[in-house]
Amino acid sequence: MVLQISLLDSQKHDRSSFCCGQETLDTYIRKQASQDLKKRVSTVFVLIDHPETSVLAYYTLSAYTIDIAALDEPFAKRLPRYPVLPATLLGRLAVDNSQKGKRFGELLLIDSLKKSLDASIQVASLAIIAEALDENALSFYLKYGFQPFKQAPMKLYLPMKSVEMLCQDLGI
Ligand SMILES: CC(C)(COP(=O)(O)OP(=O)(O)OC[C@H]1O[C@@H](n2cnc3c(N)ncnc32)[C@H](O)[C@@H]1OP(=O)(O)O)[C@@H](O)C(=O)NCCC(=O)NCCS
Repeated sequence: MVLQISLLDSQKHDRSSFCCGQETLDTYIRKQASQDLKKRVSTVFVLIDHPETSVLAYYTLSAYTIDIAALDEPFAKRLPRYPVLPATLLGRLAVDNSQKGKRFGELLLIDSLKKSLDASIQVASLAIIAEALDENALSFYLKYGFQPFKQAPMKLYLPMKSVEMLCQDLGI
């Protein structure tokens, strides 16, 4: 058995019983994710334990823009005063209930950060944005250095510079 993170393949990956405790995230991976991938709305990466095909966890990434006024002053003051700035949206991150507490959330978060950092060399992005659905998700993201937006505390950002430093520390 080998843990694998790969792009969702609707022919191969079984999402039918995925359940993370957040109805919207369960419905998304079961019914919407492959359409979004096909239409290039988001990329969807899934974790499986090869050769098993059940989705144990997943996340999505998309291009995004942020309003400079929403950022904290210490970060914003170093940026050019364009009305909107490029970012990367970590739209969803979920681990199946049966797999929680095995550090799969952390594994996928770090994988998403590394992929976003690599992509930002070709297409610039200055931060990763995530949205916490509840207080638990909020404390999960805060643990990894995400900062809340001024006006929307459930929406968070992590500067790409911080992602770069984290990846350097991890040697990836
Ligand atoms: C949040 C979630 C992704 C965490 O996944 P997980 O695999 O259980 O977490 P991990 O085992 O990787 O834990 C990594 C660290 O985060 C902490 N953590 C995990 N879940 C947490 C939670 N709900 N609240 C606070 N901290 C949490 C762990 O204690 C661990 O910290 P430690 O290093 O101090 O031990 C998972 O609980 C989940 O899918 N939740 C429902 C969906 C959701 O809310 N997604 C995020 C918003 S889209």
